[in-house]
Amino acid sequence: MNARIELVVAAVDDAVPGIRSLTLAAPDGGRLPSFTPGSHLVLDVPAGEGRPRRAANAYSLTGESIDPRHYAISVLRCAPVAEGGTAGGGSAWVHELVIGDRVTATPPRSAFAPVHLATRHLLVGAGIGITPLLSHLRSHVRWGREAELVYLFRDGHGAHVDELKELGGDRVTFLADRAGLAEDLVVRLADQPLGTHLYTCGPAGFMDAVVDLATELGWPSSRVHLEPFGVAALDPGDPFTVGVAGEVLEVPSGTSLLEALEDAGHVVPNLCRQGVCGECRVDVAPGSSPLLHRDLFLDEETRGAGDCLMACVSRAVPAADGRAHLEVTL
Ligand code: FES
Repeated sequence: MNARIELVVAAVDDAVPGIRSLTLAAPDGGRLPSFTPGSHLVLDVPAGEGRPRRAANAYSLTGESIDPRHYAISVLRCAPVAEGGTAGGGSAWVHELVIGDRVTATPPRSAFAPVHLATRHLLVGAGIGITPLLSHLRSHVRWGREAELVYLFRDGHGAHVDELKELGGDRVTFLADRAGLAEDLVVRLADQPLGTHLYTCGPAGFMDAVVDLATELGWPSSRVHLEPFGVAALDPGDPFTVGVAGEVLEVPSGTSLLEALEDAGHVVPNLCRQGVCGECRVDVAPGSSPLLHRDLFLDEETRGAGDCLMACVSRAVPAADGRAHLEVTL
């Protein structure tokens, strides 16, 4: 069991439609642990109406990272399965919190940190994907590093727009359509000094487009860093069973293998819970069902071997009779 911290909701901001910004404080009002820019907070989401099981959801921290008095997150409300959507209900729960509510979380963890030796930092975000990039920009401004940020959002739906303007000034470019983004990025990606690192966060299609363009223009993958929205956007998946240490566990639709293992008392190292960091890799024994890889960590060769998966996002593929089973070792 990871260590937990208790936090109290100190402020709620619903100014942007569909997005809730929360300010969280220590119950005694004291300082909170510092964190690396781009870190996230994993909130414990209790079971409740429309949420048959408890969950742990990661949200990027947007506020001051050094010796903070508050943690700040902004959460896009995704429709839960109970409302016909695909999400597990974590974001809906966040949107129900009120000032004074207590929540628990694991202390901030980093899976998307700035590379401090980079010559320059190019930050490209869309929608609620701006949140870890705001944290990066805050750090670059503080330390006087070369950085620029491009933010794509629908008119009226941008998060932290005023804060970005105030913080970044002419380092920040706002765009309202994908065509404009493509035009802008072709020029911007071709015109960066050697040693620039690119960081992108947003919907999968958006990030794919940014990465494809960077690849076409000759950017090595070692200088391109991704932070997906999170598992909220993933399909809940088919149920399967998993054999581990002599017992068989159910992994229902909407529950990750990582959550099922944790519920059964197994300790599985994890960090991002979004298929990015590689921490939650588990070995899969021969004879298991085919694997549905949904992470951004494993390369094609490793996937092809079929002997491991990222427990936070990946699953088993059911056979024609609907059954799927994995034998794993931790
Ligand atoms: S916890 Fe990071 S890939 Fe699963």
